[in-house]
Amino acid sequence: MQKFINWVDERLPIVDAWNNHLAKYYAPKNFNFWYFFGSLAMLVLVNQLVTGIWLTMSYNPSGEGAFASVEYIMRDVEWGWLLRYLHSTGASAFFVVVYLHMFRGLMYGSYQKPRELIWIFGMLIYLVLMAEAFMGYLLPWGQMSYWGAQVIVNLFGAIPVIGEDLSLWIRGDYLISGITLNRFFALHVVALPIVLLALVVLHILALHEVGSNNPDGIDIKKNKDENGIPKDGIPFHPYYSVHDLLGVAVFFFIFFIVVFFFPEMGGLFLEKPNFEPANNLKTPEHIAPVWYFTPFYAMLRAVTVDLFGLDAKFWGVVVMGAAIAILFVLPWLDRSPVRSIRYKGWLSKIALTIFAISFVVLGYLGIVPATEGRTTVAQILTVLYFAYFILMPFYTRMEKTKPVPERVTG
Ligand code: HEM
Repeated sequence: MQKFINWVDERLPIVDAWNNHLAKYYAPKNFNFWYFFGSLAMLVLVNQLVTGIWLTMSYNPSGEGAFASVEYIMRDVEWGWLLRYLHSTGASAFFVVVYLHMFRGLMYGSYQKPRELIWIFGMLIYLVLMAEAFMGYLLPWGQMSYWGAQVIVNLFGAIPVIGEDLSLWIRGDYLISGITLNRFFALHVVALPIVLLALVVLHILALHEVGSNNPDGIDIKKNKDENGIPKDGIPFHPYYSVHDLLGVAVFFFIFFIVVFFFPEMGGLFLEKPNFEPANNLKTPEHIAPVWYFTPFYAMLRAVTVDLFGLDAKFWGVVVMGAAIAILFVLPWLDRSPVRSIRYKGWLSKIALTIFAISFVVLGYLGIVPATEGRTTVAQILTVLYFAYFILMPFYTRMEKTKPVPERVTG
């Protein structure tokens, strides 16, 4: 075995790679609950790839056959129901895990210097993940697949001058049709997964170049022993590889409860109208995207005024786009001398709490039908969402921070 490893290693540096990324990658010893979600995101990614490949074996990407082929997978393909529920539940699990992973970044200032690139790659992953989920949702060709795609693609039509042509180009037709389904299928199963995988590799490479942050936000590389090893670091393998297995076990426990007993999650993971085949002559009473898009959908609907000769829909799209775009520049908005929320002042703590609550409530408002009262609440919450970012350069500089300890705490 050793001989074989040596033979390969002389031709491909596998031992170096193993050491640099696992056995001699020193991670801070104070990782907590919030540090499970990076490895869990990788686990869900693998689940989506494997179940996706097997679903593709029995799925028919055509307007005539798609819906029936999904029913065929559910009823006739051996273990087909399990493959499908693992994949559909996996999509929601992906966003649960990624949102918690991002929130950890916000709490501990993991986006701050020198980790800006890790954050930017993360944001690109998030964008591609949204595109991936959106295109995947068209594939079962149910009523919500159809009308959800209709609403979202039509949004591009709100862009002045090029809008109409752009939405036509995306659809490949004058309305969502089998042609749209075919191209979304190609992008969903081939193009975007490749981009996603490449971005995850870059995300990890950028992380391992500068090293992991931790709940104290302390730079562990500043305190090294005589061998040049960080005193507060432990080798990723075997310590965190085994530790992460605990996260995997707990995650699987919850995940399989959902897969086996609540795969529709009361219409949250698989919406009720999607059990009816797509019908372009019958609009569902109430169209709402899947829960992970609803905070942004609520912001889109919160914009109700026409401005500068452009209609509210256009400004809604701008607000929605800005809500995501602003996350990209976060590393340059935070001017705090400390990283972790543990040592930031109370202004940062209040701001992060309000931001998180706004995001969750906007998510709820995006699911339920709009009323006048709800729209007003959504407008206030949209302002609060943006205030977190726009005011950040001020409150992070104004507030009094706590002294950061030399070494990591428990
Ligand atoms: C497919 C999705 C993703 C995968 C597989 C993934 C994977 C990982 C892994 C394995 C780590 C190291 C372990 C950990 O710190 O938890 C990590 C760290 C990190 N990720 Fe992600 N990630 C994903 C998406 C994102 C997104 C969307 C963002 C933010 C926009 C993000 C931001 C970060 C940051 C800032 C770190 C460094 C954290 C620290 O050192 O404190 N990631 N990621």
